Amino acid sequence: MKTFSNFHVIDHPLIQHKITLIRDKSTGPKVFRELVKEVATLVAFELTRGLAATTTKIETPLTTTTGQIVSGKDVVLVPVLRAGLGMVDGLLNLIPNARVGYVGMERDEKTLQPVHYYFKIPPHPEKRDYILIDPMLATGGTAIATANSLKELGITRIKFMCLIAAPEGVEAFCSVHSDIDVYCASLDEKLNENKYILPGLGDAGDRLFGTE
Ligand code: URA
Repeated sequence: MKTFSNFHVIDHPLIQHKITLIRDKSTGPKVFRELVKEVATLVAFELTRGLAATTTKIETPLTTTTGQIVSGKDVVLVPVLRAGLGMVDGLLNLIPNARVGYVGMERDEKTLQPVHYYFKIPPHPEKRDYILIDPMLATGGTAIATANSLKELGITRIKFMCLIAAPEGVEAFCSVHSDIDVYCASLDEKLNENKYILPGLGDAGDRLFGTE
């Protein structure tokens, strides 16, 4: 695969351990959900490294000092329905005051292009950081279209977080949105003929919500 400076795999033994359990087909929805949430927290820790902080003065029991404060309410999580929902709580663990927008995508029957049927995004892009969330970066079609829609609102500070990426999706997304950093827990081998990621984890929505 071509390399992209905006593509980051968070290669940590604890993340890889949890991804192994997530992939295992014998892992049921309850444990799957818990693991997805935990990996989301761990990947988010790295993704949020560059968040702006302001300096504030505080008093400890012994003296006064200065410290750093992050404005959590200026972070906007944007999960793509429905599988993105499984990662939201993992990010809220780290940034409890973050706002949450929602995007629902479907394929237009005529153009076959992904279009949104639901799009509710907190405003004021000039002062906020947006984190697009979708666990599987497969062809990249949904993520590219969602990032396009966010940019049309004037949003410029966007990062994309997934769990598992296929090389095809990385190439497609990172070529079109070279200004958006992508963070994932694993770069897998390829897509199969049905556009599922191999080895992957199956259908993320089905495994999260027990609909298989
Ligand atoms: N969406 C999924 O849920 N799984 C894949 O492997 C690809 C897309």
